[in-house]
Amino acid sequence: MTTNDTPADHSSSDPAVTTASPDPAAPGGAPTMLALHQTALGGPEVLRLTELPRPAPGPGEILVAVHAAGLNPTDFKHRAMGLFLPPPPLTLGWDVSGTVVETGYGVTLFQPGDEVFGMLPYPYGAGSHAEYVTGPTRAFAAKPAGIDHVQAAALPLAALTAWQVLVETAGLRDGQRVLIHAAAGGVGHLAVQIAKERGAHVTGTASAPKHDFLRELGADACVDYRSEDFTDTDEPYDVVLDTLGGETATRSVSVLRPGGVLVSLLPGAEDTRAAAEKAQVRAEVLLVEHDRAGMLAIADLVERGSLRPHVSGTFPLAEGARAHAQGETGRTTGKLVLTVR
Ligand SMILES: NC(=O)c1ccc[n+]([C@@H]2O[C@H](COP(=O)([O-])OP(=O)(O)OC[C@H]3O[C@@H](n4cnc5c(N)ncnc54)[C@H](OP(=O)(O)O)[C@@H]3O)[C@@H](O)[C@H]2O)c1
Repeated sequence: MTTNDTPADHSSSDPAVTTASPDPAAPGGAPTMLALHQTALGGPEVLRLTELPRPAPGPGEILVAVHAAGLNPTDFKHRAMGLFLPPPPLTLGWDVSGTVVETGYGVTLFQPGDEVFGMLPYPYGAGSHAEYVTGPTRAFAAKPAGIDHVQAAALPLAALTAWQVLVETAGLRDGQRVLIHAAAGGVGHLAVQIAKERGAHVTGTASAPKHDFLRELGADACVDYRSEDFTDTDEPYDVVLDTLGGETATRSVSVLRPGGVLVSLLPGAEDTRAAAEKAQVRAEVLLVEHDRAGMLAIADLVERGSLRPHVSGTFPLAEGARAHAQGETGRTTGKLVLTVR
């Protein structure tokens, strides 16, 4: 359940089904919380810090006191256009890092006081841009001890996307060549690290001032998409992670070897599928899914020092509108994160 549901939807009618623990921030269980909320679609100005009913965890859910919540382009798109979600009122946000406050009936994985990070079910589980959020336990993993809540909140959606593209869909292997579009962005900068950890040769596209950043992440080669054509390559790639879709998807087909894999995060142009069939390339469009196994894999990479999020900006929850305005310029290096506690 999320803060997009009605207050009635969040109330557990039978207190016996939850194992409540007192929340130090709200002795006796304060009934309300602050959330970055919108009652209409539109620009960042539609976002208002609003007092809303605090959700209660349903069966199989945990209530998390949000310490930090990542921002993703899908937040900007849903705020402006609605996309997959029903019309406002809405509280957005899929990324969360925080402390378990209460567990619902049947939860054995976590206890009050546990520090967790995760991605709420995409798209219908949004609601982390608030002081509290509920979600299914299996959307979460224990927060790695070596990173703080801000860093942890930067990871889930973008890292799960990179993991589900490179590892689960493309099966990226040692020695393979991968091209990552928008490699300095939220998904891209994590994808570069995941691909390097798997032993791949990584080429990333970014504007020239970001090439030093890509090399620090481990990229072997950089393409300045503003002055160079990424299709000018001597050797074909095994895998392309395409964050742009459209024409970029079609053009990416031409740089893959027969049997190679193109995974796009946005729909390709009309001719992408035909181009892929002709070139004997597998072309997929992926929508990220919440996944505890993926979160555990990401936590393991962090703990082994193979994955570090780059947070280029933090904003208090109350300044969420400013964070949206900055993020939707499309120029972010790494991630932006909302700080809540
Ligand atoms: N399907 C899914 O499940 C899924 C999951 C995650 C993300 N997405 C989508 O994937 C896209 C990327 O997400 P994100 O979080 O990585 O976005 P992001 O962090 O906002 O990406 C920003 C980066 O994109 C780079 N960039 C912009 N235009 C570029 C171009 N033409 N070529 C190369 N780099 C370019 C920018 O670098 P410069 O400043 O150098 O231009 C910037 O560093 C978004 O549209 C998002 O909605 C989809």
